[in-house]
Amino acid sequence: MFEHIQSAPADPILGLNDAFKNDTTPNKINLGVGVYKDEQGQTPILQSVKQAEERLLNSEKTKSYLSIEGTQTYRQAVKSLLFGTEHKILMDKRARTAHTPGGTGALRVAAEFIKKHLPEATVWISNPTWANHQAIFQSVGLDVASYSYYDSANKSLDFEAMLASLSQVPTGDVVLFHGCCHNPTGVDPSAEQWQQLAKLCSKQGFLPLFDFAYQGFGTGLEEDANGLRTFTQHVSEMLIASSFSKNFGLYNERVGAITLVCETEELADTVFTQLKRIIRSNYSNPPSHGAAIVTEILSDTKLRSLWEMELESMRKRIHEMRGLFVNMLRANGVEQDFSFISRQQGMFSFSGLSADQVKRLKQEHAIYIVGSGRINVAGMTHDNIKPLCDAITTILQTP
Ligand code: LMR
Repeated sequence: MFEHIQSAPADPILGLNDAFKNDTTPNKINLGVGVYKDEQGQTPILQSVKQAEERLLNSEKTKSYLSIEGTQTYRQAVKSLLFGTEHKILMDKRARTAHTPGGTGALRVAAEFIKKHLPEATVWISNPTWANHQAIFQSVGLDVASYSYYDSANKSLDFEAMLASLSQVPTGDVVLFHGCCHNPTGVDPSAEQWQQLAKLCSKQGFLPLFDFAYQGFGTGLEEDANGLRTFTQHVSEMLIASSFSKNFGLYNERVGAITLVCETEELADTVFTQLKRIIRSNYSNPPSHGAAIVTEILSDTKLRSLWEMELESMRKRIHEMRGLFVNMLRANGVEQDFSFISRQQGMFSFSGLSADQVKRLKQEHAIYIVGSGRINVAGMTHDNIKPLCDAITTILQTP
């Protein structure tokens, strides 16, 4: 039965991570997969998380199933982070959230929901986008198209081209936006540009789907929600896939959420039953532990302020590494201008390194970067930045 099956290609991000783990070169550097590293090169468990876990260990009374949508307190906490506590959508009870296994789980639920209830819709993704987006929507049989986003010559947002492409999107299609810290480019729309995008969305009549995985990694928790909140002023329906992998460092706990915004409370109740049905036939109900940690932290003033401090220090460290990287390449005599890297947001930077240069960095220096040239800036430390910059300098100066 299985003899005709051919092997699938390695995943461009997680496959690279496996290759890194198998590499025995001392002082190898991993700037591939998007996980935060501290100055010691470790992906730490946040103190706020550890403290919340201690409390849970003492207070948890059962391992019985959660409901299909997860706990009420977790879902409320997610909504408050997304919209802010006093948002009109919450007052009007127009949003429904279900706890999902990670942001990818949320996107998969969204994909199945779109396929079932908006079967003719094409899903529009930015060019470029996270390497997994296309596969998630195509795996449920949806058509995927791309809209212009990045100006690779100027290393910035090509907003004119973005508007031009989105003006072609017909009513009833779905457009995926990165809430903040665009993956892979690190380039986000400005506040004014979000306004224009939201107005365009309302005019064209497409459904916005936000992938919101880096809240707090750009400028701050509130600031990073600006794009999403701007849309709420102009359109009455949206989907949001959010994740706590990065901002709580809860990568392997798989904790995220899918949020649905409808025009009325009644509609939200009705449509949510269909979302729950999709979840039930997929993973039945979500894993508890990660969401219990998030809920514990967000509902306790002390733990919450500790978490916010830890989040801020992750954000600041990444920002510092951006500046150091740019300065060190300049000091090494690299002529190419890399200053755009210090203007980008979040974990990633689209370095502009070619596929061939990325390959040489891996083969000659055991430095792992995603094939597209995406660099995880959060993988840089004071210890590895010099060998990293020296290796990039060598590659650039010896074609
Ligand atoms: C990434 O983009 O590296 C992360 O979001 C991890 C992943 O699942 O690809």
